[in-house]
Amino acid sequence: MTSITDDLHAMREHYDQPPLRRADLSASPFIQFSKWLEDAVKAQVYDPNACSLATVDGEGRPVSRAVLLKALEDEQFVFYTNYQSRKSSHLENNPNTCMHFPWFALQRQVIVTGMVEKIETGQAEEYFMSRPLESRLGAWASAQSEEVDSRESLERSYLEMQEKFGDNPPKPTHWGGYALLPESIEFWQGGPSRLHDRFMYRLEKGEWTIQRLNP
Ligand SMILES: Cc1cc2nc3c(=O)[nH]c(=O)nc-3n(C[C@H](O)[C@H](O)[C@H](O)COP(=O)(O)O)c2cc1C
Repeated sequence: MTSITDDLHAMREHYDQPPLRRADLSASPFIQFSKWLEDAVKAQVYDPNACSLATVDGEGRPVSRAVLLKALEDEQFVFYTNYQSRKSSHLENNPNTCMHFPWFALQRQVIVTGMVEKIETGQAEEYFMSRPLESRLGAWASAQSEEVDSRESLERSYLEMQEKFGDNPPKPTHWGGYALLPESIEFWQGGPSRLHDRFMYRLEKGEWTIQRLNP
């Protein structure tokens, strides 16, 4: 019988998608990102706008979790969350973060680093109101990241919010968005013989530079 470690040793993908060449890159990492996001959508990658968001706690210990990218405008990557959640308490303490887009089906990943700022309440309200009713009620029902006694008490909380707000729950004050203002954006395309293509965009004195990195 093979051990799980033997199985893991044998797991090996061959990267065979078209390469990423410097000539293919847009001078703007935002245009480049939009092209790759469109590719992920066209390829029907599951949750193409999902990424891992990394934060650190007060002792510098990192943790990451998935969030959905909900806007890419004014050169900012926007996601929404509960401002009283664990991630938000980390970000209040240390606004440095990293968003990792794992488009593995395309043998690609993108890594965005920078600092976050809270977005305007009006922008968060506009997006909140566009969400399905269940999601809006859910934002009220869940004290994100806090301990909850049981599934039943979570569902009870949802029903109480439904009773209280009916079809028109307003945006909770503790719910909103963060905009990540990128300082670096890396595009990674898997290649044969582990000679992957990596290009790092860095914001230096207001201009985006591009460097090819060793894989
Ligand atoms: C695909 C996917 C997308 C998610 N999108 C969000 C999101 O946009 N905002 C959010 O607050 N949580 C989202 N979550 C839940 C988070 O991963 C996480 O469990 C939650 O935000 C609490 O994290 P925290 O305790 O570190 O603050 C998503 C989870 C998955 C699997």
